[in-house]
Amino acid sequence: MQVLEKLKMPLTTLGESVIDQHAINFWAQKLNPLWSFNQALGEIVHIETAARDMLSFKIRVNRLFKFGEAGQHHSVFVVIKGIRYERSYSLTRLDQQHVLLTVKQVNAGKVSNWLAEQAKVGDIIEFGQPFGDMTLPEQAHPMILLAAGSGITPMLSILEALDQKTEFSVPVTLWYWVKHNQEAAFITRFEALARKYPNFSYQVFATQEQQAAPRLDASYLTQLQNLEQSVVYACGPSGFVSTAEPLFGSVKLFKSEAFSMSLCDMSDTGFVNITLTRSKKTVSIPKGQSILVSLEHQNIKPAHGCRMGICNKCVCNKVEGATKSLVNGAQSTEPGNALKICVNSAQTDLVIDL
Ligand code: FES
Repeated sequence: MQVLEKLKMPLTTLGESVIDQHAINFWAQKLNPLWSFNQALGEIVHIETAARDMLSFKIRVNRLFKFGEAGQHHSVFVVIKGIRYERSYSLTRLDQQHVLLTVKQVNAGKVSNWLAEQAKVGDIIEFGQPFGDMTLPEQAHPMILLAAGSGITPMLSILEALDQKTEFSVPVTLWYWVKHNQEAAFITRFEALARKYPNFSYQVFATQEQQAAPRLDASYLTQLQNLEQSVVYACGPSGFVSTAEPLFGSVKLFKSEAFSMSLCDMSDTGFVNITLTRSKKTVSIPKGQSILVSLEHQNIKPAHGCRMGICNKCVCNKVEGATKSLVNGAQSTEPGNALKICVNSAQTDLVIDL
């Protein structure tokens, strides 16, 4: 016992020293780029095209990487021109050592575009902890998976998890909206699953082809049975998710994640004052813009992670004032509320504990 205590002391001291951690990581990574004292790292081992403007990276992860549940997201950290950026992606577990990261090139998508244009085999990526609650329900219920654009990535993860458990014991329906057919990813995989499991079916709806399919609306629901018993997951841009939510209001469980939301609601104009109690600052920000983005424009850098309302890293207490969700337009005037500043805008002067 005493010997153990003696051994633990220097390691603990070492672990608490940031300088030593950096030094250990630096020298360890000279020997093996995946070795680290404290970082969850992955090495890109293969890159392939998933669809038009979409790339999939097969990544070998180190022992500090924490696999999440299917459907969760991980923070991904990359350094671009000396600046460290954090974004969130839904990964698919391939086996004990590998995950699949799929990114879509989008306008102003700094990290996704960097990954798509610059990342190569052998590059090392750092990961954070998994988060998000769009995971498989404990009890099997018919599942309806609604995806638009990059919203397909958590659905792939969920389907792969079901396949690994060979658990398509209840009907699973995937509906996947894209603008053009070439933008539909993982189709070969979905076809294979549909051949393997009679309970699984999928459809792709291309909304900007000559024979354009309609966007998600009530007409689709006539194809479904047992809606009240179904679990529905929706992932896609905020407009898609906010359309899905009321349409599936009668289902057993509805979970959603929205991304690429417009960080600006053009219907709101003018400026309001926001007072930050901890940093003792008051600044003027535009109504209708994400509070996080507005503060960043003022050179204030609040803690954040996913920037899409999932990870909770940006949450702070709202002392007073009215805010509006950029995901579904819901307004909140309640004081003393937890506020996700990445997906809310200010409607009135605001006081927040930041
Ligand atoms: S940054 Fe993740 S919830 Fe706001």
